[in-house]
Amino acid sequence: MQKGTFPLTTSLRVTYMRLVVLGFFFLCFSLLTGAEAECPLKLNPQRVVVRYGGSVAVNCKTSVVHKGMGWEASEGAVPMTKNQSLITWKVSELTQWDMSVQCFINPVDGAQCLVNLTVTVYKSPDSVSISTVNGTMKEGQQYELQCDVHDVAPVQNLTVKWYKNQTLLHQTNFSDTDKTPVNKTVTLLIRPDRADIGAQYWCEAELDLGAEGPQPLLTSSSEPLNVEVYYKPRHSRSTETIIKDVKVMLNCTVKSNPAPDYTWSSDDLKEKISSSVLKSSELSPGNYTCNATNILGSDSKVFILKSKEKTTFWAIVLVGVVVAVALIFAYLIFKCKFSKNSLI
Ligand SMILES: *[C@@H]1O[C@H](CO)[C@@H](O)[C@H](O)[C@H]1NC(C)=O
Ligand SMILES: *[C@@H]1O[C@H](CO)[C@@H](O)[C@H](O)[C@H]1NC(C)=O
Repeated sequence: MQKGTFPLTTSLRVTYMRLVVLGFFFLCFSLLTGAEAECPLKLNPQRVVVRYGGSVAVNCKTSVVHKGMGWEASEGAVPMTKNQSLITWKVSELTQWDMSVQCFINPVDGAQCLVNLTVTVYKSPDSVSISTVNGTMKEGQQYELQCDVHDVAPVQNLTVKWYKNQTLLHQTNFSDTDKTPVNKTVTLLIRPDRADIGAQYWCEAELDLGAEGPQPLLTSSSEPLNVEVYYKPRHSRSTETIIKDVKVMLNCTVKSNPAPDYTWSSDDLKEKISSSVLKSSELSPGNYTCNATNILGSDSKVFILKSKEKTTFWAIVLVGVVVAVALIFAYLIFKCKFSKNSLI
């Protein structure tokens, strides 16, 4: 029995608690909205985005009778005036980063109240530059690119984007709350390969100041950075069979950066050859190994050179055999006939 009543008591208590919490929130809500409704001021616009050094104007309007109203501001304050229902805060050249601006009113009945104006002061970066520690990169190794954004505000609206040609690789946002200009350095790790030859990396600083901000978004780009990638020679095939002919070459040419040096080795080659191509007609049959080498490494390729003469030789032998067989047949037939004749 006791076990049965217990959950009932608990659920009642929970319901009671919920009511208390709800009531508390309702009280807070009505206090907040009541307070706002109490200050009879309207700002137009309600928030502004201003370029540092730029101009700004915001109206403050009331529809009630008052003992005075004005603008409190760290720049361009408007002293309290009576007999006016609209006053304008105006600055022709804003040169403060952290602006505190409020419109206030002294109603006939009740205490002074004020409304805050949200002011965002921005500045495009003085420069955006890209750099790398070392100009030349080796294929397959990791390198760091650096993007420096100088003198930009506000940093929480800044996005730094990395591009390779037209492809967006990465982007960074900042959670700093500085209102004054800052310098930002962002790095990107890349592992270039031979496909990156001729690729251009660049970074871009973008300021997104919301709907009130400039459209299109303010962007500043770095110069493109051409990466030079060093890579070693690599033949697509490590052996190749060649039939000797006037037109046929032993071609060892292979791409690499820097360009490779070539060396050939074979029992037949007496002198040193540095060309990447040899004429097959000037060589005797055999194996020829070519080595392509640059500062990163080397890759060899074997050419198996076969002579065409060999084929001709076997053709002659074959013809000889055929002719011999034909002659033997002819002789046999002749002999057969002759012996028949002699019998008759
Ligand atoms: C940003 O860098 C510039 C140039 O190096 C320097 O003069 C300036 O003081 C830096 N600003 C900040 C906020 O560190
Ligand atoms: C950018 O600026 C606008 C206007 O100042 C602001 O409302 C918005 O929250 C900012 N965006 C970010 C991501 O901080």
